[in-house]
Amino acid sequence: MEKKKDIIILGIESSCDETSVAVLKNGREVLANVISSQIDIHKLYGGVVPEIASRNHVVNIDGVLTEALSEAKVTMDDIDAIAVTYGAGLLGALIVGVNFAKALSYKYNKPLIAVNHIEGHISANYIEHKDLKPPFACLIVSGGHTALCKMESYTSRKLIGTTTDDAIGEAFDKVARECGLEYPGGPNVQKQALLGKKSINFIVKPHEKLKDYNFSYSGLKTAVINYMHNKKQKGEEISIPDVCCSFQEEAVHQVVYKSIEACKNFGLKTLVLAGGVSANARLRELASEEGKKAGITVLYPPLRLCTDNAAMIASAGYFAFIEGKNIASNLTLAPSSVVQL
Ligand code: KG4
Ligand code: ZN
Repeated sequence: MEKKKDIIILGIESSCDETSVAVLKNGREVLANVISSQIDIHKLYGGVVPEIASRNHVVNIDGVLTEALSEAKVTMDDIDAIAVTYGAGLLGALIVGVNFAKALSYKYNKPLIAVNHIEGHISANYIEHKDLKPPFACLIVSGGHTALCKMESYTSRKLIGTTTDDAIGEAFDKVARECGLEYPGGPNVQKQALLGKKSINFIVKPHEKLKDYNFSYSGLKTAVINYMHNKKQKGEEISIPDVCCSFQEEAVHQVVYKSIEACKNFGLKTLVLAGGVSANARLRELASEEGKKAGITVLYPPLRLCTDNAAMIASAGYFAFIEGKNIASNLTLAPSSVVQL
């Protein structure tokens, strides 16, 4: 029997502060995943400065492509299609990746696939878990999203719940800033939390009473900020590790509780975590523990694939490509700062 031809996808990601180009074989095998992070530049400002991010993407992207092709030992001739993040993200940052991908697609006459950044985060799991197939429940937790969905196929999903206000990652970052911790906040809150204990009751889990699967993080964030202001006004000592630990427990409990409930109600046996906050060790631990109790397998990507990278974009692009979906024009594809899941 003739061997099926391998499909090689070039992935491009520039939605925030990481410039990344990847080469992926058959949607799951990483040949190269080069990430040029701008964290050290944005750290100086306490957060991502959109204008600086897009300028750095322009400076870096060509070199990142050259490095990715060389690491994967392929040329543009070997590429079957180019997958690019077209949204959601910072518009100025997205423009750089999208225009670069359009130019490559035009020059080398390769199909262009428009990838939703969130689909990319979900697909990071296909790279790590070679047997993972829909249907499964997916909890997407990032700087811009908190969403729970049922993956019905590789390219279609049903939204079960979403945040009614702030995203979980945004709450981590705001709490970090309030505690005087450096950007990016999430990993630093996690580090501090390890040194503290859950001694402060920020809110009494109102989500347990709610019947729907939506999330809310603004109340928790405000409770932390009010606590800090109160203590400062009274001149009382604040334990940053305890604040971080108490906040983190509440933050992860909410998403884990709702995700497990949704799995039970929808009869789903696998819960997959995705997005930057899925790097959080306490979230992984609690989700695994609660999943075990409920007979649900909990999966998440390795740390290097949790935060923004082009391999996950190439993986989402691969599944769209083989189904003939999301093929975009290399003349007219436009980035979008807001894209629905
Ligand atoms: O997915 P991502 O890289 O970018 C978006 O698409 O938003 O996620 C970034 C978010 C930031 O809010 C960052 O603080 C958070 O993920 N994050 C974490 C951890 N690592 C990254 N939050 C909590 N714990 C972590 N270990
Ligand atoms: Zn992301």
